[in-house]
Amino acid sequence: HFSEVSYVDLPAVFHLSARHNADQHPEKVNLTIGAYRNEAGKPWVLPVVTKAESLLAADETLNKEYLSMGGLQSFTDAATRLVLGENSPVINEDRAVALQSLSGTGALHLAFQFIRQFYPGCKDILVSNPSWGNHKLMVDTIPGLNFVQYTYYDPATMGVDLEGMCRDLENAQDGSVVVLHACAHNPTGIDPTMAQWEKIAEVCKKKNHFPIFDLAYLGYATGDFDQDAASIRLFANLGFEFMVCQSFAKIMGLYCERIGCLIFAGKTAEIAHKCLSQMKIIVRSIYSNPPAHGARIASMCLNNREMRREWEDCVKEMHARIRRSREYLHTALKTLNVPGSWEHILQQNGMFSFTGLTKAQCELMIEKHHVYLLKSGRISMCGITKENAKYVANAMNDAILN
Ligand code: LMR
Repeated sequence: HFSEVSYVDLPAVFHLSARHNADQHPEKVNLTIGAYRNEAGKPWVLPVVTKAESLLAADETLNKEYLSMGGLQSFTDAATRLVLGENSPVINEDRAVALQSLSGTGALHLAFQFIRQFYPGCKDILVSNPSWGNHKLMVDTIPGLNFVQYTYYDPATMGVDLEGMCRDLENAQDGSVVVLHACAHNPTGIDPTMAQWEKIAEVCKKKNHFPIFDLAYLGYATGDFDQDAASIRLFANLGFEFMVCQSFAKIMGLYCERIGCLIFAGKTAEIAHKCLSQMKIIVRSIYSNPPAHGARIASMCLNNREMRREWEDCVKEMHARIRRSREYLHTALKTLNVPGSWEHILQQNGMFSFTGLTKAQCELMIEKHHVYLLKSGRISMCGITKENAKYVANAMNDAILN
């Protein structure tokens, strides 16, 4: 039956990470995958997560019964308040509904499936150029949806090309779906300013576009949840219907627990709840109901006052550590006099830096220096430590001068 099936390459981010892991070079560096690393370059299980796990293990009232199709409500309610704010009119008017999802990817998949079934006029899913690689794969694998890119990044200024972005949103089919990175844009590390968000919202309103916010890095841009959620809250205050696809991978270090939330803000409470019921049927058809462990951890960290404070401190620490890694690399590049201005490494925010290195330069870094990075020039800042910054800067110097 399947003799025509051919091998396909793993997505670059996993393929390069696997190559790094198999590499025996003593000074190899992994700057590929967007996963937090501590000052020693190691994965970090947040202490508050370990605490939550011990409390859960000791709780005899818990069992392994199914969750409902929408997941653990104490988690989804708290996740919604985290994004929209404690005094959100959308929540107060009961127009926000939410489902637990298999991290951000699962939330996006549910969102796209829902769009395909219940938004039949819409074919085009507009995604920033560049964007997280998985956006294209996810849209392409749902028949009937078209992946269309809008201008986002201007390599000349290393900033947002607002004019190009607004022009593309303006020229798109009315009522298109627009995927927006709420903060800490992946891969560029460049976010619109609030004034730019207002312009973007204005065009989306005029064109009746439907925004889907990808929210994997809340807290990573500024260290502050409210500030990082300001883009979403702006659209909420302007009366948009929208979705948020929220991941708890990076912000609680719960990568393998696959814990996320799909939030939908509808025009009315009735519309929102009708849509929620349909989303639950989509869940039922794919995996029936979500796993409980990560949801219980996240619920505890969100709802228990003391643990919430501990978790917020962890997010601040991760944010501060990434800022320090930007300084390590920037200082090393300047000390070595590597050609180019490297201010952008300091100015970009979130987990990544879009270095501006060409594909050939990236290949040289990988093949000759064992420094693994995406061939778009994206590096995960978490992979940079005080110890390896000079080695990485040296490799960049060699790649540029070659
Ligand atoms: C990344 O962009 O590196 C992360 O979001 C991991 C992934 O799944 O691609």
